[in-house]
This record gives sequence, structure tokens and C-alpha cells, in this order.
Amino acid sequence: MKITQQEYAKRCRNVMQSMGKNAIAILPSATEKARNSDVDYSFRQDSNFHYLSGFDEPESVLVLIPGRKQGKVVMFCRERDPTMEIWYGYRSGPEGVLRDYSVDEAFPIGSIDDILPDLLDGKDRVYYAMGSRPDFDSQVMAWVNVLRGKVRSGAQPPSQFVALDQLLHELRLIKSKTEIGMMQEAATASAEAHSRAMEKVKPGMMEYQLEAEYIHEFMRRGCRSPAYPSIVGGGKNACILHYVENNQVLQDGDLVLVDAGGEYDHYAGDLTRTFPVNGVFSDAQKEIYELVLKAQLAAIKEVKVGNHWNKPHETVIRILTKGLVKLGLLKGSVSTLIKEEAYSQYYMHRTGHWLGLDVHDVGDYKVGDKWRLLEPGMVLTVEPGLYISVDCKSAPEKYRGIGVRIEDDVVVTKGEALVLTRDAPKTVADIEKLMAKSAPVSVQSNNKSTVKKAKTKKQLKKKSSLK
Ligand code: GLY
Ligand code: MN
Ligand code: MN
Repeated sequence: MKITQQEYAKRCRNVMQSMGKNAIAILPSATEKARNSDVDYSFRQDSNFHYLSGFDEPESVLVLIPGRKQGKVVMFCRERDPTMEIWYGYRSGPEGVLRDYSVDEAFPIGSIDDILPDLLDGKDRVYYAMGSRPDFDSQVMAWVNVLRGKVRSGAQPPSQFVALDQLLHELRLIKSKTEIGMMQEAATASAEAHSRAMEKVKPGMMEYQLEAEYIHEFMRRGCRSPAYPSIVGGGKNACILHYVENNQVLQDGDLVLVDAGGEYDHYAGDLTRTFPVNGVFSDAQKEIYELVLKAQLAAIKEVKVGNHWNKPHETVIRILTKGLVKLGLLKGSVSTLIKEEAYSQYYMHRTGHWLGLDVHDVGDYKVGDKWRLLEPGMVLTVEPGLYISVDCKSAPEKYRGIGVRIEDDVVVTKGEALVLTRDAPKTVADIEKLMAKSAPVSVQSNNKSTVKKAKTKKQLKKKSSLK
């Protein structure tokens, strides 16, 4: 599955339609970033630039000029260069861009200072993401100043600069059928990676060794990289919301919280599961887990057309607060506790965000001062959690150090919400069943952790035989 050139062309047409006549949009590509001496971070194209062109080379600039007779979609890019291509790989060059992408004209990036002032001449409005790239801001101002210096010769510099983001982000917020298909690929790869991790985890493993299982599965399933740095937090590390060190030993008896998603052709999967390192939830872990799961399932039900953005969050707050009182983690009346946001010592983030080319995708959450209404084609995450710090003296001791988050990727449809990440086991029973299946049958090993896991399987057998 791939976004077709027709779809990229349609996106450009949509943007140009919203821009109106006598306007121009300028979008620079992402830049390469140095990691250390001769090594760069792996290049990731700017999401807006990719959304409109599908062209993934750095040092490029896309220009949209509605109504221009010679061509409305213009790309500036690097020229072919046999030596550089031997060292660093293929470059399309203007000829390749014209051949392979839906652009009308393509020029070498080296000629942009000569051509851009002419393209700006006579336009009323320049659509441009001002302030996001200071170096590029000054380049744009230099082109405008060329025209300002020629007004006596008849040049007409643009008078208005308009933020491009608002217009583009509203388009990106509603995903097409093909985009949902791409996001399904990212979600399925992510779900499979979580299943693989549940099968592979064992006490004694380093958190980063479990992370390796995710990277393996992402790549095997067509994701070139994770969509964001994976969070693999064993035990109390699960209570650190952005824990990415992933350098501790996974302990028998602890849960591990993994927030990891693959990126499939620039589209993000964003998926969290929390599971027991030894394959079986303890009673206290189960109590917290079941509460988060109850809130998550109820919130997903609220992802429907006509509900506003905050409805799933409000649902989560209500269920978690009630449950926290029942478990003795909060004391008082539920409505007062909600009003006072007492839950926030255990649940300090929101229930979700838009998802798409960016893991925290673009699009407004409010229209004016009101939460916006959900519409078909919007994709969001639903990710409640509870994080009970080891230092929380007010919490019953058995719950201290437990962190649980459950996150799925959900599409708003005309009917029921579509859960893209549905293949990742989520109930206690499904997780324990999958983990028991993968527990080693033999205890003939010097590896202590293997013995532990085999014991766990025996325990499970005993448990089910009681029924
Ligand atoms: N992985 C980042 C988030 O869940 O929002
Ligand atoms: Mn996440
Ligand atoms: Mn998320």
C-alpha cells in the first residue's frame, strides 16, 4: 500500500483552493542534523512537505502557486551528482522529480535565489510557516527584499504573510481511505510487536533487550523505524511518563509498561501495553490494570461522530476517580474529587491526541472556546493510565510502584469506532494466555529466569484446574 501521486496532487489542489487567488505557499524540506563529527541522525522528511509531495530528499523547497499558467506546483531540489551519489546515495535531480512526482516544474536548488523573487512578484499573500526555521525565514525575507528594491521598476512585493499551518493542518486532520490503510499497517506492525514482546519477555532481561524485539518486528513488518523513542519501563520506571533510558533489568514480579509504535511510510502507530514480566499479574497489579482497562474501553465507546474531543477524557476521569475511591487510593466524594482534580496525583496526562504523520499529530482541539466535534476520518489515541509512585505514602503499600497505561489508535467512523491496534492482547486473560503459551516447557536450564517462567506456567495450570 502506498499513497499515489494522484493523492499527493489532490492534496496540493486542496491547499491551493483554500489559499485562494494571487497567493503563494513556500514549504522547505527538513534539514539533515549532525549527530557527531561525520555522522548525521537518520533523515526524516518534514511532515507537511511529505504530505504534499511524497518527496523525501533534504535541501528541497516546494512552492505552490494557484493559477500560475506555467505550472502551479514547483519543486527546487538537489541536482544529480555522480560523486556525491557514490558516497551518499541516489538523488532524483529536477529531471527525476518531474518524472516521478506530481509536480509541474522542477529546478536545481542552487537557482532558487534567482527564481523565487519572480514567483513572489505581484502576489498578495505568502503562506509560510514563519518562525519554525529561522535560517529559512531570513532567506524568504531576502527574496521579498529583492522585490522591495525594485518597486520603482514595477516590482510588487507581497504585503501579507499568512501562517500556512492552520490551513494545512485542517486538511491533515481528516484522513483519506488510503491514509487509514497506511495507519492500519503501522498499527498492525505495532500490535504484532507487542505480541512478540509478550512472548519474549522474561525476568533478568534488560529493558533495552525487550525494546530490541519491538524494533525487530517493526522492521520485519515494513516500518523503517519506530515512530518515536520507545518507552520500556519495568516496575517503578513505568511511573516515569517519558522514560526512555530503558537500561534496567526487568524483575520477576514486576509489570513492564511499553509504549512503542512503528512508523509506516511516515504514518505513526502509537501503542501501549502493560504486562507482567513473569507472565502472571499479581492481585494488586490486576486491580489497577482492570480499572485502567475499564476506563479505556468506556472511552473508546465515546469516540463517535457528534461527541466532542474531550468526551473520552471526561469518561476516563469519572471511571478512574470512582475506581480509585473503591481501591482506597482516594478518599471523599467522587464529584468533589473530580472537581478538585484529585485523580491527577495518579493520572497526570490527558487521554489522547490526534495521530497521523506525526505521533502527536496536527489539528486544533478546540473551535473558538469549545471542544471540537469528532468527524469521520479523524484518528486519535485513547490512552488512560494510573501511576502510583513508590513514594506515595497515602496509597496502600501493595499498589506502590505500579504503573499501567493502555493505549490504542482509534478512527472515528460513521458507526462504531475502528480500533486499528485491536490485534494487541489487552485483557488480563488474553495477555496471560499468550504469555503462558510462550513459557518454556522444560526446566532443564541453568538460566534462572527460564526456571521462573516455567514455574509460572505450572501455576497457571494449577489455577485453571481449580475451575
Ligand atoms: N508515545 C507518546 C504518546 O503516547 O503520546
Ligand atoms: Mn504512546
Ligand atoms: Mn500517545
